[in-house]
Amino acid sequence: MSRYVEIYAEWQADPVRFWEEAARGIDWFSPATAVFNAEAGVYGRWFDGATCNTCYNCVDRHVEAGHGDRLAVIHDSPATGQVARYTFAELQEQVGALAAVLRAQGVTKGDRVVIYMPMVPQAVFAMLACARLGAVHSVVFGGFAPQELATRIDDAAPKVVISASCGIEPGRVIAYKPLLDEAIALATNKPQACVILQRDTLRCDLTQGRDVDYAEAVRAAIVAGERTECVAVAATDPLYILYTSGTTGQPKGVVRDNGGHMVALKWTMEHHYGVNPGEVFWAASDVGWVVGHSYICYGPLLHGAATVVYEGKPVGTPDAGAFWRVIQDHGVVALFTAPTAFRAIKKEDPAGSLIAEYDLSQFRTLFLAGERSDPATIEWAQDKLARPVIDHWWQTETGWPMSGNPVGLGAFPVKLGSPGRPMPGYDIRVLDDAGHEVAPGTLGNIVCKLPLPPSGFPTLWNAAERFISSYMAEFPGYYATSDAGIIDEDGYVFIMARTDDIINVAGHRLSTGAMEEVIASHADIAECAVVGKADTLKGQMPLGFFVTNDGADRDPGELERELVQLVRARIGAVAAFKCALEVKRLPKTRSGKVLRGTVQKIADGETYKMPAAIDDPAILDEITAALAARNLIGQGT
Ligand code: COA
Ligand code: AMP
Repeated sequence: MSRYVEIYAEWQADPVRFWEEAARGIDWFSPATAVFNAEAGVYGRWFDGATCNTCYNCVDRHVEAGHGDRLAVIHDSPATGQVARYTFAELQEQVGALAAVLRAQGVTKGDRVVIYMPMVPQAVFAMLACARLGAVHSVVFGGFAPQELATRIDDAAPKVVISASCGIEPGRVIAYKPLLDEAIALATNKPQACVILQRDTLRCDLTQGRDVDYAEAVRAAIVAGERTECVAVAATDPLYILYTSGTTGQPKGVVRDNGGHMVALKWTMEHHYGVNPGEVFWAASDVGWVVGHSYICYGPLLHGAATVVYEGKPVGTPDAGAFWRVIQDHGVVALFTAPTAFRAIKKEDPAGSLIAEYDLSQFRTLFLAGERSDPATIEWAQDKLARPVIDHWWQTETGWPMSGNPVGLGAFPVKLGSPGRPMPGYDIRVLDDAGHEVAPGTLGNIVCKLPLPPSGFPTLWNAAERFISSYMAEFPGYYATSDAGIIDEDGYVFIMARTDDIINVAGHRLSTGAMEEVIASHADIAECAVVGKADTLKGQMPLGFFVTNDGADRDPGELERELVQLVRARIGAVAAFKCALEVKRLPKTRSGKVLRGTVQKIADGETYKMPAAIDDPAILDEITAALAARNLIGQGT
């Protein structure tokens, strides 16, 4: 029997008491003066007046409780063929020493530190070292190009950047140092210092007077016996800034606080993921995404569980059995990944025959999130793994699942295509465009009644106005998720689409608006549109359309290659922008708005209603012809 209904009702009856109770899972330096202060912040603040330290709760308290010998971080890297394991005591030594290195560079409470690293354990150490000092980290995903890194450096204005000499992608080594140097050259706010991890795969030259060798400096701090205590911060002080795609090229700096974040994540480890301290949890994502922040770094460690930092892919490192090997080798009890990873595995090993080659006896549950889980993928995973497969839905803005299926409370029956029911803390509603609640089963805007629960973002970094206009203004009293969907008569949530121009490519959140800005900057382009076309492997893929300037007279193929290269150079390989079609005109409304939704439907081979406000319907035929000429109508790959 699931206790979900009882626990959700308990939260509804008294949210403050519910979170006060959950907060007992955290060690505070001093308690909150108000568990929830409705007068503070835009919609109230959690654990106002409390002081705490997130690193202390992730590391030191486990050592002090006598669990120093327990495994904390496991680095498994098919990319380099190496496996490394760190206990909580070793983690404390590494993090304490790195914090001393940062402190020596002048980093103190409230200073920002940008982390641009591949999937190495030092990325987690770096996050924790910042938390130890009360500094605010901002991790930038390694697949972003220098321009994107520069934008984030300029906005966060970090004192120090922590990076590495290289990252490793299948078949190629990515030299990070030139990317970092280019980003710093582009940025107006120059960091004072860079701490660089030299990797044997590809070492780099350090810049005299600016760069510090990570390993040398940490070793020296350990030898010198330097200790850094955990600095007391307010529960409401920022722990990190994580930039996420918005509707323009300027990413949104989602701010996460210390206290509420810890309380919510600790609660989820036990109740949603059903994991016990001392067990091994694995989120196969990247530290550059929110999943990596919450469930590679903070969640498992707060809970005293071990986390796996995996530097590999679901397929090709070396084959579609990679996930089963990691689960076996490290005794993983719960795996969290994106559905696209399972689609990739299923494509290469449709019979799931590699699963039988590994001992998965400790493995209990598969969790999927980051994009819509198609029923076929869930059914395949259920069938081949013979274990619960749990879809759950969340966003960078919340930091933990808004809807899910709490395994720790006893899972309720799964409905295929639904990421479960609202988690305690979230009062989820579906509204029509006028802000009225719709009947169960009716498609509409998914919103969450304010206040957001602990861990919900209190603001956007340097963009308090944008926080209101993007999230709070459209439906007063509610947080607008920008997802569209339904809630059925049993309370199950179904996420169907984004209501903005965000697309989801292999579980990565990308802005088509940002891609359009890059394409429009090409000298031969008059106007353009990018839509997300359905893709059987990655969920969606960006698809560009462009109109050239009069007299440009360019070969369309050559121009397409230039645009593909431009997006890769400016945004990064992660944008997966591979296709741009020349058209004579773009379909627009009479007021000049490009009809991206209709274009997307044509590309997906779906039926569409002729938009009432369309200026010239003939343009849709031209778009259809352009797509048909490239055999691009219907689901790809
Ligand atoms: N640093 C540099 N480049 C990176 C990178 C990183 N950290 N991560 C990805 N890239 C590059 C890839 O090499 C690829 O480059 P290419 O165009 O030269 O091939 C490009 O960015 C697109 O990457 P990706 O979308 O990951 O596609 P892929 O073809 O390499 O792999 C999957 C496909 C399905 C195996 C892969 O997307 C995957 O494992 N997805 C899991 C999803 C996930 O973790 N989502 C995070 C949110 S939960
Ligand atoms: P991100 O902020 O990168 O985590 O992306 C959040 C977005 O990913 C959400 O707004 C959804 O559009 C999508 N998303 C995340 N999880 C799910 C899910 N389980 N089902 C459907 N869409 C999801």
